Amino acid sequence: MRVYLDYNATTPVDPAVVEAMVRCFTENFGNAGSVHTPGQQARAAVDSARESVAALINAKSSEIVFTSGGTEADNLAIFGAVAASPKPRKHVITTAIDHHAVLHTCQELESHGVEVTYLPVSRDPNSRGIVDPDDVRRALRPETVLVTVMHANNELGTIQPIAEIGRIAREAGVCFHCDAVQSAGKVPLDVNRLGADLLSISAHKFCGPKGVGALYVRTGTRIVPRFRGGHAERDRRPGTENVPGIVGIGKAAELARVKLPEDSARISSLRDRLEMTLCERISGAQVNGDRARRVPNTSNLTFRGAGGEAMLIALDLQGVACSTGAACSSGSTEPSHVLLAAGLSHDDARSSLRFSLGRPTTAEEIDYAIAAIPSVIERIRAISPRTTAAAVPVQ
Ligand SMILES: Cc1ncc(COP(=O)(O)O)c(C=O)c1O
Repeated sequence: MRVYLDYNATTPVDPAVVEAMVRCFTENFGNAGSVHTPGQQARAAVDSARESVAALINAKSSEIVFTSGGTEADNLAIFGAVAASPKPRKHVITTAIDHHAVLHTCQELESHGVEVTYLPVSRDPNSRGIVDPDDVRRALRPETVLVTVMHANNELGTIQPIAEIGRIAREAGVCFHCDAVQSAGKVPLDVNRLGADLLSISAHKFCGPKGVGALYVRTGTRIVPRFRGGHAERDRRPGTENVPGIVGIGKAAELARVKLPEDSARISSLRDRLEMTLCERISGAQVNGDRARRVPNTSNLTFRGAGGEAMLIALDLQGVACSTGAACSSGSTEPSHVLLAAGLSHDDARSSLRFSLGRPTTAEEIDYAIAAIPSVIERIRAISPRTTAAAVPVQ
């Protein structure tokens, strides 16, 4: 049996999404910018997808800008909002646990003279990985032009107090961007309730295709486009529209919105069963991240004394696919910046695995994973050069 437990890295595309997309490669293949009938048919498909994406986050369809994914949406939001600000000196606030799509963009801004504050997160073992909104308030300066804080963390699953942070940014008159790539389709999203001016999502995290995402841009929020070359997406993202991808994200958004209540209840109970049983059966296993303020599908666990990469490979040989952290940093021996920021030691961060479930996950798969994982961990512990769980006090 093969059990895929890495849905935060990516998801399979729902067959209904594939079906909707296939039509755009063959029948409805027009250029959405053309005035003739095939062009207008493609335009209608793009417009309808825009409405579905807007409905997922309670936005207006005119506020949706299609991009090539979450990374581009984050780049467009951050570079775009900072460039649009007329302030002579500029300051941005983000967090130490945001995704590299945000952090590397902020680092690039720093090389151009923009000052960036990287806020810490809670290191308390019971509430790891949560930003304190008061830290946002304290970090604000007259020259602050943007606050960018992720909604759900991709490694821990922790959900940030976005509505509160949005309120603080709004009161200060500062633009607020939220990377909601890991929360879209997992928890209800409402841009008004969250107080976001800009919000990023990515289709491949909620059973849509890779290479397409969207940036929500609140009416009246100014962003300078990153690309030049035409008037697509109301001048905010030029280039011929990726009609199949856009239709794909539209269908995936529609399915996510309809299925969300059922999916989240079912998935969280499977996740909780997996997590609880592993903690019972594996000595010293500990859950990372605030357990209550988490997306329903993610479990990040430390198995002291076992190397993450070794566990990952051994589990893969047993048919269980999970992750040692963000997919884009796998292969790197550096411990995860998220786990370190959340207070784990280097050793514990290197001994952690992320299990993330999805809509296709079944109870049988969880049974299989529960049966396979404990013996693999004990085997890796036995051959790991470091220590065993029993020899190290658990925090
Ligand atoms: C929180 C977060 N932001 C942004 C991204 C980047 O999205 P994409 O893969 O669509 O570029 C990811 C992908 O893992 C993510 O988890």
